[in-house]
Amino acid sequence: MKLTGLKPLILLALALLIEDAKAIISSPSAANWGGDFFQSPTNWPTVPKASFTQKGYIQFLKYVVDVPEITDYTFCLWVKSHNLTYNHPLLSYSKHDKERLIRVWISPHGTHINLELMGKTPFTVSSKIVENQWNHLCQSWSSHMGTWAFYLNGKLHSSGHQALLRNVRIPAGGDLVVGQEYTDFDKGLDDGIEGDISGFNLVLSSAFSRRNDLLQRHTWEGSTHKPFGMLLVELGQDCGLLRGAPLSGKGVLVSWTKTEVRVFGGATLKMTVPFCAQKR
Ligand SMILES: *[C@@H]1O[C@H](CO)[C@@H](O)[C@H](O)[C@H]1NC(C)=O
Repeated sequence: MKLTGLKPLILLALALLIEDAKAIISSPSAANWGGDFFQSPTNWPTVPKASFTQKGYIQFLKYVVDVPEITDYTFCLWVKSHNLTYNHPLLSYSKHDKERLIRVWISPHGTHINLELMGKTPFTVSSKIVENQWNHLCQSWSSHMGTWAFYLNGKLHSSGHQALLRNVRIPAGGDLVVGQEYTDFDKGLDDGIEGDISGFNLVLSSAFSRRNDLLQRHTWEGSTHKPFGMLLVELGQDCGLLRGAPLSGKGVLVSWTKTEVRVFGGATLKMTVPFCAQKR
């Protein structure tokens, strides 16, 4: 059934309805986490997770952040799909509900991971994402050379260059959404993560070493010499580390525990034991 024209209205109404569902994930006790973990395995701290069913309403998370012009980024999240029949949009960065700037999604049945950037498609790589299993996914971009990479469970899965997008500047001031494609309201309800996510973090640095980058980012990295984006890829592997928000400070645009987020359509936020400890 085509709901063209109706959908934006429905969404607007929803936005008003769930105004009281607006949630701020925050974790004032995060700093104590490490100590608890080692001393008291039966009293593990919990990590926040968001669950989406996509039943009834479009469900997604929308971050309340002023996005600057972007040339470099890395984002990571844990995702466990309950049903991979449809696309699972991991990240949608767009303007005015129309202009698609960054889209990263899992194809139906987990067969591919895709990046679309400024209307180009730097990669569509094959994958074997299966239902009901946690995976840690990271994607990095650097405009300097048009370099992209995709990491699966801490390992480089694939990388390459998109010459057409060298030196591209991704416009500031867009909408940053996780769980839904935020530009296709008039196309129906097929898209959307059905399942759980945790540990979504986005830093304004790539995971790639290059001399200039390294010098510039050095202060963000403290004592390490790794690009900030690579730190996120590595530290994000531990789903319980600082409750899924391993990095903070300058260069972090979205932190899983500290950035204000609006929860749309009845998606739920819960606290859970660190699931990756069970997995390994
Ligand atoms: C997954 O979703 C599809 C489409 O909505 C549905 O037909 C199918 O039964 C679902 N599978 C499971 C295991 O729930």
